[in-house]
Amino acid sequence: MAREHYFHTWASQKEASSVEVVSAQGFKFVLQNGEEIIDGLSTAFNTNFGYSEERIKRPVVEATNQFPAALSKWNYPQREEQSKRLKTLLGEKKGKIFYTVSGSESVENALKIVRDFTGRKLILARECSYHGATLGALSVSGDWRNKANLTVNEWTLRIPEPHDDPECVELSSIVERVGAENIAAICLETITGANGVWIAPESWWKNLKALIDKHSLLLISDEVLNGFRRCGSSFAFQGVEGLKPDLVCMSKGISGGYVPFGALWVGEEIASYYDENMLACGLTNYAHPLGIAAMSGVLDLLEDSDTLDRIEANELLFAQLLEQLRSDPRVKKVRSQGMLAAIETDGLKYTWKEFIAKGFHAQAKEGMIILAPPLTIDPSLLEKLFDCLISVLGGVNE
Ligand SMILES: Cc1ncc(COP(=O)(O)O)c(C=O)c1O
Repeated sequence: MAREHYFHTWASQKEASSVEVVSAQGFKFVLQNGEEIIDGLSTAFNTNFGYSEERIKRPVVEATNQFPAALSKWNYPQREEQSKRLKTLLGEKKGKIFYTVSGSESVENALKIVRDFTGRKLILARECSYHGATLGALSVSGDWRNKANLTVNEWTLRIPEPHDDPECVELSSIVERVGAENIAAICLETITGANGVWIAPESWWKNLKALIDKHSLLLISDEVLNGFRRCGSSFAFQGVEGLKPDLVCMSKGISGGYVPFGALWVGEEIASYYDENMLACGLTNYAHPLGIAAMSGVLDLLEDSDTLDRIEANELLFAQLLEQLRSDPRVKKVRSQGMLAAIETDGLKYTWKEFIAKGFHAQAKEGMIILAPPLTIDPSLLEKLFDCLISVLGGVNE
């Protein structure tokens, strides 16, 4: 099919790789030639419950009957009730939610708010990170997408990767050098997701927490990819003992991918600042009813003990299947947490099209295969996904 009338993202248009798809059901999407592709990446780390989850679809359809759209000034019970439930999942009674329609906007608004609240410009961020495509979020992102755009990089200070600075020695000296009084916040993916599932060592978190306490730094946790049970807990920051972010950016899994939606939790101290001061942030589709409805379905699922049992069983099976992969000579390293994994291959580079040809969808990235299967995928499909993956690897396991 010709691709004349719309752009493909993050690609030179002539080389953009795409496939003709006719439908998406269960945990697969169906190609025009009838082939069924197992979704090993939850579309783009967002369809955590597959494509056919009635408990997300139903409230969305109901919302189209009551409020297909709504002004941000309209109060109605769902907005307040679901915001309270989201805070409960975050483990927070206090603070407030600011709604968006994407992860980039969640990060963008977090940056605006910390700069406004502190009156400072500098954000500390990692090189190996992605925080979104808008100019502010991109300025803190460290991957190639930053360099491909003209961003305001002088307001970002790059910090060393956790594995290169496990005791935070270099990070401390950066803070001393620029002065904590010039730093608005530190912005981090709790686990670097699409850039390779990098899990920081415990010592790094311990030292980072001490540094944050010493200098009263604000912490923005970008949980856009890690959140909503992707990494074994409701949010990945909850898996780091004693970590207390001041702001939490959310999107992707928040609506199971069925509706473009995002949110930002803002802690009590900053939230109450806006009782008297102007919050200069807003969107036309603020707290959109379809997004709130989809989120209510996701929250139902994450509160349902049968669903949680199923997710836990899948997390276990996923870990076992990954463990078996480690013995493949072509596999160099496996990093994983919950239902997120990066498989480093020994010098071999695969393409997404090769995965599709073998019947599965995963992310191919510079000698890495990144997996994020739907949390509730059928266990037999999860096993089949690994069979497909092994057939791509070739070698002894074929
Ligand atoms: C960690 C993280 N933050 C932010 C974003 C941006 O989200 P969106 O593409 O919804 O704007 C992404 C997207 O991949 C992400 O992985």
